[in-house]
Amino acid sequence: MNNFPRLNWGFHTPALLKEAVSALNVRPNGKYIDATIGGGGHSAEIIRRGGKVLGIDQDEDAIEYIKKNQESGIENQELVLTRGNFKDIERIARERGFVNADGVLFDLGFSSYQMEKSGKGFSFLRDEPLDMRMSIETKLTARDIVNSASRDELYNIFSKFGEEKNAYAFCDSIVRARSIKPIETSRELAEIVARASGTHLRGVTRLHPATRVFQALRIAVNSEIDNLKEGLAGAFEILAPNGRLIVISFHSLEDRVVKLFFARLAREGRAILANKKPIVPSEEEIKANRRARSAKLRILEKITNS
Ligand SMILES: C[S@@+](CC[C@H](N)C(=O)[O-])C[C@H]1O[C@@H](n2cnc3c(N)ncnc32)[C@H](O)[C@@H]1O
Repeated sequence: MNNFPRLNWGFHTPALLKEAVSALNVRPNGKYIDATIGGGGHSAEIIRRGGKVLGIDQDEDAIEYIKKNQESGIENQELVLTRGNFKDIERIARERGFVNADGVLFDLGFSSYQMEKSGKGFSFLRDEPLDMRMSIETKLTARDIVNSASRDELYNIFSKFGEEKNAYAFCDSIVRARSIKPIETSRELAEIVARASGTHLRGVTRLHPATRVFQALRIAVNSEIDNLKEGLAGAFEILAPNGRLIVISFHSLEDRVVKLFFARLAREGRAILANKKPIVPSEEEIKANRRARSAKLRILEKITNS
């Protein structure tokens, strides 16, 4: 009988839960690494199916949440927890006895808790300090970048990580606004961007004009693309032959990194692609959890021990 956990989806509703965990082919006492444990939804399902989990998250609040929701104590037979960055997955797995893992899951991006309750300025709908660090160990905040990066640096961030077509106009407005006073909060930044786009915040029904700017800053602050590349490479190293690497991504930049990494390993004959096209959520899931709408799941199976 496993003792993990009493989940209430208050922290985060997992996307593609059944699809992702089924793709892992969980076997009793198999070793699985949840590289982004968040609120523990995927881990709980792996454990329910008999697997043992090493859960990693860089966010101290996520690790605390999992600890509190354990029925009895934290480190137990089914779950080992580590606060850390998944770019170090190979080292963490070695330290915690999870090399030759039967499966590794990455559920990328941020949790609902981080967006709605962390108070770190991830949402353009809230008025919070512009921080956006998922881990307190990250040095630069979004506030540092918005107020100190050059116009060119801001342009690169918004166009590369946000694929923002209005990047020039938004950079101009930000540079003008910060010359009067520093931009401190998520609301201030959202209003500057909304004004530059000619859209009023009230009555916006489609994509908010600041959506891509906020995405871009979050990716830059947390070095998300570099961490993902390192994390995928490390995860593949510590997978057992026939082990599976499962990745759920939420925007095209992430998905492209995953797709190219998987394609290269398949070309080199070291792995096979279990699905050519990504698995996406059903309409029912999207109705129940709007955040799942952009989720894409890819599955890679290792075939050699190289
Ligand atoms: C979408 S949530 C995961 C939700 C989880 N699967 C669940 O069922 O609740 C993404 C999590 O990944 C974490 N994360 C993002 N980048 C990370 C990184 N480089 N290293 C470790 N954790 C990371 C975030 O802190 C967040 O808690």
